[in-house]
Amino acid sequence: MIRGVIFDLDGVILSTDDFHYQAWKKLADRLKIPFDREKNNRLRGVSRMASLDIVLEGYTFSEEEKLAFAEEKNNTYRVLLNTLTPEFVNNDVRDTLDELKSRGIKIAIGSSSKNTKLILSRVGLLNAFNAIADGTDIKNSKPDPEVFLIAAQRIGLEPKECIVVEDAFAGIDAAVAGGFVPVAIGDACAHKKAKYRITVLSDLLKIVE
Ligand code: BG6
Ligand code: MG
Repeated sequence: MIRGVIFDLDGVILSTDDFHYQAWKKLADRLKIPFDREKNNRLRGVSRMASLDIVLEGYTFSEEEKLAFAEEKNNTYRVLLNTLTPEFVNNDVRDTLDELKSRGIKIAIGSSSKNTKLILSRVGLLNAFNAIADGTDIKNSKPDPEVFLIAAQRIGLEPKECIVVEDAFAGIDAAVAGGFVPVAIGDACAHKKAKYRITVLSDLLKIVE
């Protein structure tokens, strides 16, 4: 019996892929390191420092330099996030969240991003969820299930009572590792362990009757 839905943020509720791309690209260009959209796709669902390691693949820098680069990227990214408006979240997403709530389903965010609350507040969804677990709460990033386990605890449910909706392979792995019902959208639909595959968020309403 499904009593809760935990949503990944980037790529599920809205897409900030292009902002990540622009911010990493600016850093990579300054360092004269090649970076393209294909590489950017590999950063989906991956923590900030792990993303940096992918961006810097083949190049060696000290830990101190890497921390400074991550901060530089994040500063560029946050300037871009400030251009977000409620229009970045489509009506299918908003209607689905409303319908789930009206069916008595608890809804939560489980995101690796430390910018989760800034993003949700820019798009007018900061108070839309029963709970938020994000990059500021966790020690271990996806594929570790920590962020989803915290979200489930905050909505007072067991993992097996919750769907996790993910667009990243690492997120589906995390959902499986935590004992959640893994639902894939977008790229994650190619993951063999997804229990359901959806095209738009409102497809969830057929799974959660
Ligand atoms: C995830 C994104 O949601 O958050 C990743 O899919 C990103 O691409 C990660 O690296 C960490 O984000 P932030 O905002 O903490 O740098
Ligand atoms: Mg995602």
